[in-house]
Amino acid sequence: MCGITGYIGGSDSTAVLKSSLKNLEYRGYDSAGIALVDDTVEVYKRQGTIDDVAVPTDCDPSHGIGHTRWSTHGEPSDDNAHPHTDCTGELAVVHNGIIGNFHELKAELGGHVFTSDTDTEVIPHLIEEELERGRDLYPAVSDVINRLEGSFAIAVTHADCDAVVLARQDSPLVIGHGDDGMFIGSDVTAFVEYTRQVTYLEDGDVAALTPDGVTITNDGTVVNRPITQVTWDAAAAGKSGHDHYMHKEIHEQPHALRQSLSGRLDELAGEVDLDIDIDQEVLADIDRIQLVACGTSYHAGLFAKRLFETLANVSVTVTRASEYHVTGADDPASTLALAITQSGETADTLSAIREAVSMGARTMAVTNTVGSTVTREVDDTIFIQAGPEIGVAATKTFVSQVATLALFSVYLGRTRNAISRNDAATFLSNLRELPGAVQEILDAEGEIERLAAAYGDGESFFFIGRHLGYPVALESALKLKEISYDHAEGFAAGELKHGPLALVTPETPVIALLTEGTEPQKTLNNVKEVESRGASVIGMASIEESTAFCDETVDIPDIGRMESLVANVALQLFAYHIAKNKDRNIDKPRNLAKSVTVE
Ligand code: M6R
Repeated sequence: MCGITGYIGGSDSTAVLKSSLKNLEYRGYDSAGIALVDDTVEVYKRQGTIDDVAVPTDCDPSHGIGHTRWSTHGEPSDDNAHPHTDCTGELAVVHNGIIGNFHELKAELGGHVFTSDTDTEVIPHLIEEELERGRDLYPAVSDVINRLEGSFAIAVTHADCDAVVLARQDSPLVIGHGDDGMFIGSDVTAFVEYTRQVTYLEDGDVAALTPDGVTITNDGTVVNRPITQVTWDAAAAGKSGHDHYMHKEIHEQPHALRQSLSGRLDELAGEVDLDIDIDQEVLADIDRIQLVACGTSYHAGLFAKRLFETLANVSVTVTRASEYHVTGADDPASTLALAITQSGETADTLSAIREAVSMGARTMAVTNTVGSTVTREVDDTIFIQAGPEIGVAATKTFVSQVATLALFSVYLGRTRNAISRNDAATFLSNLRELPGAVQEILDAEGEIERLAAAYGDGESFFFIGRHLGYPVALESALKLKEISYDHAEGFAAGELKHGPLALVTPETPVIALLTEGTEPQKTLNNVKEVESRGASVIGMASIEESTAFCDETVDIPDIGRMESLVANVALQLFAYHIAKNKDRNIDKPRNLAKSVTVE
């Protein structure tokens, strides 16, 4: 994933572009650049972040575009950084996505000189050819995008043109309407400090942006796209005094959870309202849910599987999206394929959901991102309403995904008459207690910080749990490895003795989930197994026995089946403080990006 920004208007374009690119760095940060336009096009770019790019302060461009990159074609380098130009140097393009047929297009562009290894660079040269035929920039871009295969969001500027031309296909692009000009962003985060009035472009849209407004066409016809007001502000996108976005986002979880639950559950009536469009009769006939997701979202799916099976009495498969395939045994009429994706842009997840669509199954998405690609491709979407998440490591969106899926489990359970009103009411009351229980953990951060300091030098870290503890074990291990670079694994506690126990030594701290819904009494046996191999054990526990069995215990508030989700928050903090003590780049771990838009 890369970040695109742009501005045209009366303000200081250079300053706007630089601050927007800083806001977008969570989308990629291996190289950056901007193109400033004022009768000429001046490009400043290099490997690194926008802070590394030497942009003159004494120029006064009328508009410009910018880019922060996460490499797909061509290594991170000065030459591969965007914007890319044509042979005249008067045209500049920034691009997010992948041009699948760029080799063929490049072969057709004989005589053009290429200076990068990127797929993107064919775009300015193709446009250049159209301009040489006497066309204006807008029709030239419209024609060129018809020749591109793959996914793209592009912004194009030319020295002779007083507009920025945009196009979108399978990659997000948003326009901001400011008091003093118009903004462009891969998402609203780019410019939310300047305006919250936004227009989301749709696939196939080509737009011309001038200081006063925007004209959009799709397939040659002028279209009106609505202006909507985003509900979060610049403060929500900043660090608000925390050292890292991840820390801020961990602390936002009580609020994020309340937003996910807000207005959706009636614990007295035992009912849930999720504003779902798919007919209740159709949902009642579903006998198989296929959850598809990647990474943290996959772990949310594993957690949700248990809830769907127990609350809605429906059989559920959870598949890593990159491994999903339709089989002859799938019955589209009774299958619901549900994508779980924070960004709504993950290529593997989109590909899986497209396969489910082609099979004829009903499809849904649970996502955080309004206007994202997945929402356009499924029959129905439930938003987790967690607010923007900037840190690469997913935290608040994980708990909000699980809470939202829990609501959907109850909704489905009631629709299918699989759960009584009373049982639903009890579960929903537990859910209502979740934000408060998470706050209790956050208030005890000092104790978790102590544990991180005491055990953070382990050779490897093993997280063990059963049932609702197992996905949390996997997620906690992922969190620790991605931000601290320490080796960490999550195991089903009962599986330890079937192999992984061989890895356990006095140098490998073991973290055990001992909460309701995780069969804690059985897991205590596994605690004894690892302790007898010399390992120290930290119990995440709502049972009293933990203090007798484990070296350390973090008390998890007693709120029923969702307790292990609360334990997950404690383990996010554990990972955070271990990584912080090692001075890791917590918000931008090496080799990773917030959203992965390649398969
Ligand atoms: O946006 P998605 O939820 O589809 O992203 C899927 C994974 O790339 C993501 O959950 C990743 O594993 C986390 N950022 C890790 O913390």
